[in-house]
Amino acid sequence: MQLREVSPSDHAALHVLWMRTPGIQLRAEDAYVPFCAYLARNPGLSLLVEEEGTIVGCLLAGHDGRRGYLQHLLVDPSCRQRGIATALIEAVLARLAAQGIAKSHVFVLDAAPQALAFWRARAGWSEREDIRVFSTVECNR
Ligand SMILES: CC(C)(COP(=O)(O)OP(=O)(O)OC[C@H]1O[C@@H](n2cnc3c(N)ncnc32)[C@H](O)[C@@H]1OP(=O)(O)O)[C@@H](O)C(=O)NCCC(=O)NCCS
Repeated sequence: MQLREVSPSDHAALHVLWMRTPGIQLRAEDAYVPFCAYLARNPGLSLLVEEEGTIVGCLLAGHDGRRGYLQHLLVDPSCRQRGIATALIEAVLARLAAQGIAKSHVFVLDAAPQALAFWRARAGWSEREDIRVFSTVECNR
């Protein structure tokens, strides 16, 4: 298992993985240009795992100076239950901590039961019952 930082040239391969993984919801921000901008704004925080030159897992991460945010965690079905997601999460959280970010969030869709089960089973993570997320986009205001 080879863990390394995500780079712009990984976009095409990652997009294929995201597209075929239930539980990952793609948005306009997942296109190449905003993806590169995200990596540039959050250097060294998004990581992937390769096996024999093929990407088999990925986790995007960034922070706003106060809280960290994890997105698009996935592991290829053929490589699950081997600790790859755990390795990605631990490495990303260590990198966030090194940048002074002690607390991080992950938003999980109600429509992604496998993802919900994964995060509910993870030690050290608690599901918030006291928060509702409100969102806006510029063109709606
Ligand atoms: C969720 C996902 C990333 C887990 O990847 P993984 O590499 O198999 O996870 P790990 O091997 O690191 O598993 C860590 C632990 O979680 C458990 N686990 C894994 N998948 C689980 C699931 N769906 N539900 C409950 N527990 C799960 C493992 O049994 C393991 O427990 P253990 O430490 O007691 O042995 C993978 O199933 C996936 O890509 N799912 C589809 C995409 C997705 O839903 N992503 C989340 C978006 S927020």
